[in-house]
Amino acid sequence: MGTNQNTKSAHNESVAPATALAYLDPKYWDERFSKEEHYEWFKDYSHFRHLILPLLKPDSSVAWNVIVLELGSGNSKLSEELYNDGITHITCIDLSAVAVEKMQRRLRLKGMKEIKVLEADMLDMPFGNECFDVVVEKGTMDVLFVDGGDPWNPQPSTRAKVMAMLEGVHRVLKKDGIFVSVTFGQPHFRRPLFSAPEFTWSFECSTFGDGFHYFLYTLRKGRRLPSDKGEGERFDEPSICLLQDELEGEDYMFRTDVDELNC
Ligand SMILES: C[S@@+](CC[C@H](N)C(=O)[O-])C[C@H]1O[C@@H](n2cnc3c(N)ncnc32)[C@H](O)[C@@H]1O
Repeated sequence: MGTNQNTKSAHNESVAPATALAYLDPKYWDERFSKEEHYEWFKDYSHFRHLILPLLKPDSSVAWNVIVLELGSGNSKLSEELYNDGITHITCIDLSAVAVEKMQRRLRLKGMKEIKVLEADMLDMPFGNECFDVVVEKGTMDVLFVDGGDPWNPQPSTRAKVMAMLEGVHRVLKKDGIFVSVTFGQPHFRRPLFSAPEFTWSFECSTFGDGFHYFLYTLRKGRRLPSDKGEGERFDEPSICLLQDELEGEDYMFRTDVDELNC
């Protein structure tokens, strides 16, 4: 993340909320972004570049015009890093007007005028059907789970929000588009939602990170196999018994009660 642990701890104390429920409050994000210039949730691009770049640019020798939507971009540098790797057709959305205004200014100063940044709600996206090749989110879907209760069986209101988000993503993706989700939500919690019957995408899970592993899910629209019911599969994955110290920065705030499970 480019900051050492001490710097990160001091930073977190100044902007981290007292309870994770604040992450659902748009006012919290506006206040935070008015003080904070950059914070990278989970890991920065360098840690998962090897996984995402081949999806966006399958042939590095060919000029590629992939059209990308990033959900909940906050003050992350993901769009800049993608731009520097030749992915220039990017639209970022965020619910926070402050984040949007600050990112627009930052990108303008860096001459990255092609990246559009819009204030919009990912639960009700202002885009037509089938207009993006790739939709990417990092830590944004996780916000929806902070009041979800039991991660094995999220509350109906949480499930409804997650499904509104996923239905929107599925709708705006082109026929063979890809949804990339970067999170530490484990497959046994995410798979039942990603693989709901209304979605035609396939499901693939990769991990990255040292010590604690993060997940990068790849969902390819139109590639779901008839046999894929999305239930009952086992995954090779790291232990879910985590100590708070193992998670960096504020990541522990998003833990979906994993320590309540039989660790
Ligand atoms: C945990 S931060 C992740 C920021 C960034 N993606 C990163 O990796 O550092 C969540 C972001 O999602 C935004 N957000 C929360 N709910 C949203 C919604 N319904 N629609 C769009 N953005 C939302 C917040 O304003 C915040 O910028």
